[in-house]
Amino acid sequence: MKTRAQAAKVLFEVVEQGVSLSTVLPAAQQQLAAKDRALLQELCFGSLRWLSRLEAIAAALMSKPLKGKYRQLHYLLLVGIYQLLYTRIPPHAALSETVSACRLLKGETFRGMLNGVLRNVQRQADALQQTVDQKPTSRFAHPKWLIERLKAAYPKQYGAILDANNQRPPLWLRVNRRHHDRVSYRALLAAQDIAVAGEDPGSEGLCLAQPCDVSQLPGFADGWVSVQDGAAQQAARLLDPQPGDWVLDACAAPGGKTAHLLERQPALAGLVALDSDAKRLERVKDNLQRLQLTAQVICGDASRPQTWWSGPAFDRILLDAPCSATGVIRRHPDIKWLRRNEDIAELVILQGKILDALWCKLKPGGTLLYATCSVLPDENSEQIKAFMARTPDAELVALPQDGGPDRPGWQLLPGEGNMDGFYYAKLIKR
Ligand SMILES: C[S@@+](CC[C@H](N)C(=O)[O-])C[C@H]1O[C@@H](n2cnc3c(N)ncnc32)[C@H](O)[C@@H]1O
Repeated sequence: MKTRAQAAKVLFEVVEQGVSLSTVLPAAQQQLAAKDRALLQELCFGSLRWLSRLEAIAAALMSKPLKGKYRQLHYLLLVGIYQLLYTRIPPHAALSETVSACRLLKGETFRGMLNGVLRNVQRQADALQQTVDQKPTSRFAHPKWLIERLKAAYPKQYGAILDANNQRPPLWLRVNRRHHDRVSYRALLAAQDIAVAGEDPGSEGLCLAQPCDVSQLPGFADGWVSVQDGAAQQAARLLDPQPGDWVLDACAAPGGKTAHLLERQPALAGLVALDSDAKRLERVKDNLQRLQLTAQVICGDASRPQTWWSGPAFDRILLDAPCSATGVIRRHPDIKWLRRNEDIAELVILQGKILDALWCKLKPGGTLLYATCSVLPDENSEQIKAFMARTPDAELVALPQDGGPDRPGWQLLPGEGNMDGFYYAKLIKR
């Protein structure tokens, strides 16, 4: 009962107050006994994954929605529908636990109503599902603006992209080269009966068949392995820093790619890990400490390098730019409801500004790798086309999976190779 009430509160805060799930969920989990925390996570992620579909089903069964101070009860109802349609929780338990939670949300008088709607969901499940399938926003459980953008950019693939965004993501590991290679770490996993579903021959990535408690992985506490999606692991390979290089990781927090760069290349002259968010930089420091790696961690604005850097020009720059994160919706389903169409144009301007500013800090002959976890061409291939047009000394390196002159760079789509959606463009300064 308490878990359902907490889930309703979390959904209310995310959807109506615009706070990210990664901020709200840990605090809500602290309110519960350890044994109930995984269920809370499942209810929150699942309900956000299917939110507009659950909304459509609720709307079909109610004459008017719950408003004002009863909004948390509205989300409790959605949590109830989610359990009935998407989980193996026995329906009688889902129903009674959800209805009982009304009391914890000061809505005792709504017990009867919730009970009635949830019983109708049970009785009419198939018909309701067919009805809501008629409308793209509930069929795909994405906001209209995002469906339209994806349809325009990927007329043939957009349905598959939307479906991939609604899948549960796999757990990818990055093997720390300083301790093991991918093959020898795979053998350690096999010895513990941990099955691997796939691997990335070009990097250090192993994709597990089932998510697991990472603290149980061989050597996790000693930094032998970290959690990082296979797509994100392409950055260090593509930037390929060499001994003696000065490297800038310009938008570094929480530090996954910083650590990977250092693991792959122990003989750098120096690595600067920059981010504008001081709180997120603490996580970079924690990661470096766990992995026993060293970098110069600086809090600053990547679009104004003169305010934080007077050292030598960089040989390699990784710009993992702030973006819409539309490639990682399967890991962060709240993105669908937090992000607005208007945000995209603002992000494109910021990305362009950072690209121009950092280009001035790159040595002639140096490499800049532009990366986003977005699938929107405005932030990716169009951004790079515009940069190339205004930057005569920039040369684009064709990546093996390059999209050609119309769509320069490498666009990974969500689910491709079991990886997140990601974009890479590699630029060299003449
Ligand atoms: C995609 S995340 C980076 C992820 C990171 N590279 C990793 O692999 O763990 C983008 C980061 O850009 C940072 N950021 C946003 N605007 C910035 C700016 N103007 N200057 C520096 N960092 C910025 C955000 O705080 C955020 O941490």
